[in-house]
Amino acid sequence: MIQFENVSKQFEDGTKAVDKLNLSINEGELIALIGPSGCGKTTTMKMINKLLLPTEGSIYINGEDISKVDEVKLRRNIGYVIQRIGLLPHMTIEENIALIPKLKGWTSEKWKPRVDELLNLVGLDPNTFRHRYPLELSGGQQQRVGVIRALAAEPPIILMDEPFSALDPISREQLQDELKRIQEQIHKTIIFVTHDMDEALKIADRIVLMREGRIEQIATPDELLQSPANTFVEDFIGVHRRGVSENKEMKTIESLDLLPISETNHKTLLIDSKSTIKEAIELLLTYRAETAVIQKNDQPIGTISKDLLLTELANLSMKGGTINE
Ligand SMILES: Nc1ncnc2c1ncn2[C@@H]1O[C@H](COP(=O)(O)OP(=O)(O)OP(=O)(O)O)[C@@H](O)[C@H]1O
Ligand SMILES: [Mg+2]
Repeated sequence: MIQFENVSKQFEDGTKAVDKLNLSINEGELIALIGPSGCGKTTTMKMINKLLLPTEGSIYINGEDISKVDEVKLRRNIGYVIQRIGLLPHMTIEENIALIPKLKGWTSEKWKPRVDELLNLVGLDPNTFRHRYPLELSGGQQQRVGVIRALAAEPPIILMDEPFSALDPISREQLQDELKRIQEQIHKTIIFVTHDMDEALKIADRIVLMREGRIEQIATPDELLQSPANTFVEDFIGVHRRGVSENKEMKTIESLDLLPISETNHKTLLIDSKSTIKEAIELLLTYRAETAVIQKNDQPIGTISKDLLLTELANLSMKGGTINE
């Protein structure tokens, strides 16, 4: 249904964000695009709704080359959810959700019940939320509205760029479950960008792991875990996969034995003691740090090393049992 044929995107400054990508996405499939920051996930996604144009190659939707399709028309048939939601603050929740249906010419007899149906679908009572403004909702509620707004006009394709990454772990798990449940009902073609391997393993039919604009592996979650194509895939899964059960994965730094603080300077990475072990490891990896100072109520209480956290994570996996194994 969506086909990338030798698609490359080179920006004007010479950056090659996507490099000869070949990918076929089936109708009704939920594909997770994952990979290190800067590997080309967002660029790949934005070429599907022509927010960006390829510098080489072609993209086909249902066999039609999208370079020949009017972009306004194209986008009305492609839902788009981004991390920071993008709800319009001066419009009510109802107006936000009904925006595209109205643009498509739906009458109020058609879009009003649709708004209620969608709000119910994500557990928001229409009578309570219909007339509220986005800022009168919590982050998780706004994100739910972001998701259903993308579904409102029943587009066959939905693009989701790290839609849940700004949420706390509990809302995030809930929304992942809701998305899975909704997808079982609606069977849309969904391209879902994420940084989180657990999220990808949980929700995707197939996972596309990218590096430097190229695809390292395309596989179902089980295949990816069982037969990683190369050491990059193996390492990526290893680091990004908690492999711990739900309670264990919530284990925070606070519960660990910290080392005394030797020296700190303004460059020292600070991590809150309420962070989970996984969050702390991600921070250390992101900032390429070996150690960090742990703070509680903004006061330093000790230091921790990356090695210790990785050991702790490995212990948890052994005790907690792993996913999909
Ligand atoms: N407008 C632009 N001009 C120049 N380079 C760009 C532009 N947009 C993106 N890039 C570069 O293209 C590469 C891919 O960017 P892209 O946003 O697709 O990455 P990503 O995989 O979505 O990363 P992240 O996980 O951080 O969101 C990066 O090196 C980025 O700096
Ligand atoms: Mg991105």
